[in-house]
Amino acid sequence: MHYLETVTASAPGKINLQLLVGKPDTNGYHPLYSIFETVGLRETCIAKFTPQGNNHFESSTLPNSTATLLSYTASGYPITVRTCVDLGTQAANAQALEQLNDVAATDHLAWKAAAKIVEQAAANAEYQLLPDNTQIDLTIIKRIPAAGGMAGGSADAAATLVAVNELLRLRLSNSELEKIARTLGADVPACLTGGTSLGLGYGDHMTRLDTYFANQTEDSTPVNSHHWVMVMSPTGLSTPAVFNAFDAANAGRPLIPTVSDLQEVLTHDPQLPKALYEAKQMAEIMENDLQATAFALRPDVAQVHQYLETLGAHKVMLSGSGPTLAVLVEDETEARALGEKTSTHPQVAGILITSGPGLPAMVEKTQ
Ligand code: C5P
Repeated sequence: MHYLETVTASAPGKINLQLLVGKPDTNGYHPLYSIFETVGLRETCIAKFTPQGNNHFESSTLPNSTATLLSYTASGYPITVRTCVDLGTQAANAQALEQLNDVAATDHLAWKAAAKIVEQAAANAEYQLLPDNTQIDLTIIKRIPAAGGMAGGSADAAATLVAVNELLRLRLSNSELEKIARTLGADVPACLTGGTSLGLGYGDHMTRLDTYFANQTEDSTPVNSHHWVMVMSPTGLSTPAVFNAFDAANAGRPLIPTVSDLQEVLTHDPQLPKALYEAKQMAEIMENDLQATAFALRPDVAQVHQYLETLGAHKVMLSGSGPTLAVLVEDETEARALGEKTSTHPQVAGILITSGPGLPAMVEKTQ
């Protein structure tokens, strides 16, 4: 059997256009009603078969990289992972590297994603998918701020699922990959799916809204592209900390549509198609239940939000659980002008200009 040696795959980050949060269930997890727009910022995973013990990383000189970490899957297969950050500014790179350097291999979502695929291959008696004396080396190229509310870690996992599925020629279908994605984290399915989607359950049961509405004969809403300035904070904000404070304030909605309400929501929620409208109208449905809690935890982010609101954008909103702020503007020229003004603000670590909706996770190159 012929094995591919290297597969490069990428996956998009996301912005929550709507993030409605229910009260925690018995697992402590929160039911969500979430509309995701994926964006052009993408994480890359380069997955490579190498001979076991080959330490080729030591001799390669990638700037801004973490150390290479090795760990073994449950069936004993070795996988290494390292992350190379490429966030546009030295300050943002330094901050991300500081956070990433503390992560063990087995806590790295990309490593976990690769391990899940490898374990499926190991359980496959029909094929010898994992050649003897090999290991898989993962290099993650990070362009989405870490702990920024844009699902950077989840995009790492989505890109890795696609890359390793291809590397092993395992041929898992999109829905099988989505099932695995769900076990890795609530945002991973959105990064796999791309486009604009509705997430129910824990926000992890995805329906592509652009595809759905394009198929409705009476509503042929074209998907508009949206322009964003992502405003990064000099320090991160932990997602569990935001959810804990949210619960302490008893802020959860008593009623959130569940997975079984999908059809009802798709056919009867008049707001939903607006996620695909042009910026001005789409701004009307943007809402984030976690924003007030995140601002209470981080008054500096609230201040930057206040400042951004004076600059004439369609909408300024916390992205996911923060601390990144998403600013929706009319076009790329406005994005550049607003980005330039904002980047000198003392409480801003950097800005990223992007647009959405983005493409799904995909293989970019095989060799
Ligand atoms: O799924 P993910 O690992 O990204 O979630 C990070 C944390 O956010 C969880 O450990 C949990 O504390 C919180 N969370 C939650 N309810 C959700 C999603 C995340 O409470 N639906």
